[in-house]
Amino acid sequence: MKDLFLLNVSWIGMVVLLLCNVNISAKECTNTPTPLQSHTLRYEIAISKNESWKQEMLAYYHHDHLTPTDESAWANLFPRKILREENDEFDWNFMFGKMKHPGHYKMEVDFLKEVSLHDVRLDPQSLHGQAQQTNLEYLLMLDVDRLVWSFRKTAGLATLGSPYGGWEGADVELRGHFVGHYLSATAQMWASTHNGTLKEKMTAVMSALKECQDQIGTGYLSAFPTEFFDRFEAVQYVWAPYYTIHKIMAGLLDQHTLTGNAQALEMLTWMAEYFYNRVQNVIKTYTIERHWMSLNEEVGGMNDVLYQLYSVTGDQKHLLLAHLFDKPCFLGILAMKADDISIFMPIHTSRL
Ligand SMILES: *[C@@H]1O[C@H](CO)[C@@H](O)[C@H](O)[C@H]1NC(C)=O
Ligand SMILES: *[C@@H]1O[C@H](CO)[C@@H](O)[C@H](O)[C@H]1NC(C)=O
Repeated sequence: MKDLFLLNVSWIGMVVLLLCNVNISAKECTNTPTPLQSHTLRYEIAISKNESWKQEMLAYYHHDHLTPTDESAWANLFPRKILREENDEFDWNFMFGKMKHPGHYKMEVDFLKEVSLHDVRLDPQSLHGQAQQTNLEYLLMLDVDRLVWSFRKTAGLATLGSPYGGWEGADVELRGHFVGHYLSATAQMWASTHNGTLKEKMTAVMSALKECQDQIGTGYLSAFPTEFFDRFEAVQYVWAPYYTIHKIMAGLLDQHTLTGNAQALEMLTWMAEYFYNRVQNVIKTYTIERHWMSLNEEVGGMNDVLYQLYSVTGDQKHLLLAHLFDKPCFLGILAMKADDISIFMPIHTSRL
């Protein structure tokens, strides 16, 4: 019965998806969902030896990724929005206030308070406690040298052991992605358990990454070469290099905020400087439209991590770079409160 219900729900989901699809493809400035949004298919294309099939699929890829066309209209939305009257009935603060304090719409500043993970401990007997223990044991199984293998290789340092497989495979364009997640996962796990063995391991990974960044010497820190960004900026096929860079930057930020690792912020800031120069160079050499066109490839939550970095450093460059990863094609629609963005939310919002 339950299975049947789930089946029904997934059928409804598919019908809804199909309806949305038809709706979206009629609008301008959207990334029409295509089969190429499947990473598996794109990976198959990337490694395929069938040149005619590759050409065919990549032509499709370029055709279906539309370029933002109306950025000036989008830019105009900003001042208007800021100048708007405070009690605009569609304003989020207003709506929230209305729900929280019917009658008088004043915001309570400390309605939601963040509790530090350092101050929360799960009951080891509980389901959540057991899940946390499983997660901890999994993180402890991961090997430092294997995790940083491709980072060392990219930096021209000696590698030890062998790289992991899957997305971390030595010839997979997303390599390094999992390591970014590892930095976030271990920071959170350590804050939640203060397990000393885990702290040693994550600190060893951070030290190895620091060595790689120092060796490269430009601020760049990645498990794949900068040539991927040359392709990204030339709007040639490459598998989402910023999507992975975002994970690494977010991992460094979590290491900074949760573990007190003294080098994490410095490493992150240096990376931000590298990419600031890179994006600035694209805009100077070509145009801002060219930069936005390149953002049709998935860039993860680059803007999110950079806004967070800005809130730590107060450096205007970090704020500017964050803005440059806000996609007009997407945010324009959002700002106009259109209701047809849900289908491609995962591509433009930060995802885990
Ligand atoms: C290569 O791809 C084409 C489609 O573009 C297909 O018709 C052909 O059978 C493929 N060749 C091989 C060897 O798989
Ligand atoms: C960390 O957790 C593992 C797994 O529960 C445990 O074996 C190890 O003793 C812990 N390390 C420390 C220093 O407590």
